[in-house]
Amino acid sequence: NRKKIVVFGSIVHDLISYTSRFPRPGESIRGNSFHQGAGGKGANQAVAAALLGANVAMIGKVGDDIFADFNIASMQKAGVETSAVEKVAGSTTGTATITVSEAGGENSIVVTLGANLEMSPVTAEAAETVIASFRSAGILLCQAEIPDAATKKAFEIGKKRGVTTFLNPAPGDPHLDQSMLAFVDIICVNENEAKFITGIAAPNPAQAEKAARAMLERGPMVAIVTLGPQGCLLAERSDGSSEIVVSLLPAESVTAVDTTGAGDCFCGSFVALLAAGIPLKEAARRAVMIASLSVMRKGTQSSYSSRAELTSSGFADLVVGI
Ligand code: RIB
Ligand code: NA
Repeated sequence: NRKKIVVFGSIVHDLISYTSRFPRPGESIRGNSFHQGAGGKGANQAVAAALLGANVAMIGKVGDDIFADFNIASMQKAGVETSAVEKVAGSTTGTATITVSEAGGENSIVVTLGANLEMSPVTAEAAETVIASFRSAGILLCQAEIPDAATKKAFEIGKKRGVTTFLNPAPGDPHLDQSMLAFVDIICVNENEAKFITGIAAPNPAQAEKAARAMLERGPMVAIVTLGPQGCLLAERSDGSSEIVVSLLPAESVTAVDTTGAGDCFCGSFVALLAAGIPLKEAARRAVMIASLSVMRKGTQSSYSSRAELTSSGFADLVVGI
């Protein structure tokens, strides 16, 4: 009785150059290597969840260019159901031009959303059948790479249909329409997004707790602040009481090659674990570990581990029960 997952979100083709450092404005530098892969926060999260064995459907849009089929195929290969992914004639597939500086694996990204911007409240309504087929037993997952109005409508439909709603408002945008938080059960942010949503910078666990408590006042029952190499902070409001339980789930240190998409790996894995019935805190603990393994490999979707890989590489404990 595993819950089904619907991702209503972005699909983006990633073009990644690995360099020794970031170029300065006006400067041209040589890259050391190049990787292209399927990405986009929505698709990444869908793939991360499906690789762990979750039952995932993607709702999104690509263009009619050379990147479209590659990105759909990557989701399908991971086991994501893509019949609600539409090719928009005359539009371009989202692209992300990414520079990863090899000192520390940090990135800088220019994302051009193309067809993702065609997602609208009408798309959400058209997708209601997909969401409805997951009635009261599903989780709806959204990010912030499509128009807010589309996301908000999807969440409204999700709540009407009794699904658990999960928002990862990434990338951080100070103008996010926060009225959608009224329809969100679980919110997951990084340090930067915490600042945009609450005004509280969250570079450490103490500040993250303040930000998480502030987010719980806006609608969600659960707030997570991811802290990169420090792991994540989970704050949970218990049903029918004002009590808030806070847990810190630390990460183990790893050598980062490419941190791009690690947050997506966390969100997708976390939701896959929840869908399998793993309790919140344990799901967060395991998702931190699974995401930290992804930073040791290049790319986004290409760096995520499948359930079988985790099992055969000494991490069977992370997938037990799913
Ligand atoms: O979160 C990482 C993703 O953000 C990349 O895959 C890239 O497509 C950007 O949208
Ligand atoms: Na990676």
